[in-house]
Amino acid sequence: MNVEKVGVVGCGLMGSGIAEVAAKSGFDVVVREVSTDFLEAGQGRIRKSLDRAVDKGKLDAADRDAAWDRMRFTTDLADLADRDLVIEAIVEDMGAKNELFSVLDDLCGPETIFASNTSSLPITDMAAATGRPDRVVGLHFFNPVPVMKLVEAVRTIATSDDAFDAAYAFAAALGKEPITAKDNSGFVVNLLLVPYMLDAIRQLERGVASIVDMDKAMTLGLGHPMGPFVLCDFVGIDTLYRISEIMFEEYREERYAPPPLLKRIVAMGRFGRKTGQGFYDWSGEQPTPLPV
Ligand code: 3HC
Repeated sequence: MNVEKVGVVGCGLMGSGIAEVAAKSGFDVVVREVSTDFLEAGQGRIRKSLDRAVDKGKLDAADRDAAWDRMRFTTDLADLADRDLVIEAIVEDMGAKNELFSVLDDLCGPETIFASNTSSLPITDMAAATGRPDRVVGLHFFNPVPVMKLVEAVRTIATSDDAFDAAYAFAAALGKEPITAKDNSGFVVNLLLVPYMLDAIRQLERGVASIVDMDKAMTLGLGHPMGPFVLCDFVGIDTLYRISEIMFEEYREERYAPPPLLKRIVAMGRFGRKTGQGFYDWSGEQPTPLPV
């Protein structure tokens, strides 16, 4: 099967990035959000990112306009009926994802492939909520989507070769480097990354070093582009908390358990860069560490 028409459900940080990259790569894209407000915010994010690419000389103005013209924005799921591939990037909640896929299952043709951009929920459970478990895969992108080269292509025990190969080829056609991962919670990257971030928080609780010094240690000592606490704020503290709860529920291993400090920061509504505060305050020129 050859993917030409793509649907993206959810136009937040990840969905907008996926839609942008797909349109820039020549795919016909329909983007769906639940409300006009969210849709307009997502459209604005894509437009800003495309304009920035033009300003930086990475994209011709004509290619930006062509990419923009290849995208349609809607609040109606029925507009996804003719898609070859639909990728969901909605809230990290199994109930919401299952409900979405069961509606899409009735709307879309039997060949349509459903993909989830989940970071930690099992794809198999979503596949089981549809009448086409053989055509459900994971396509896990990384933030910021236009920059990060990796896509984890995930197959379940039910995924057909045809659907998996088409989804994998789609990721490659976006200029990404796909890898194949088994359907285990966290796939490859989050399986290794989440314990690392949670461990950094635990060491902070133990008073091993300050936020700034631990970030400095990992950037200057290992050449990481971001230290663990900047990365927590970048990923989203609430998102990290949710992922760790899902992974702990899956594996019942201590290393995935959310540390108390993470819970306290979530309780304070400090969700990271998106809300202006997390481990750092992001309102000034430079991030400044907050009390923990
Ligand atoms: N959209 C498009 N381009 C962007 C961008 C965005 N949101 N953010 C940065 N860029 C581009 C810049 O234009 C710049 O391009 P250029 O070199 O061609 O001019 C390049 O990326 C570098 O950007 P900056 O110079 O502004 O800043 P940095 O050098 O600090 O890089 C970064 C920013 C790319 C975000 C880098 O810090 C980085 O790689 N950080 C790690 C990100 C990471 O780990 N992501 C994965 C998170 S985990 C995840 O997503 C999985 C989930 O399930 C939890």
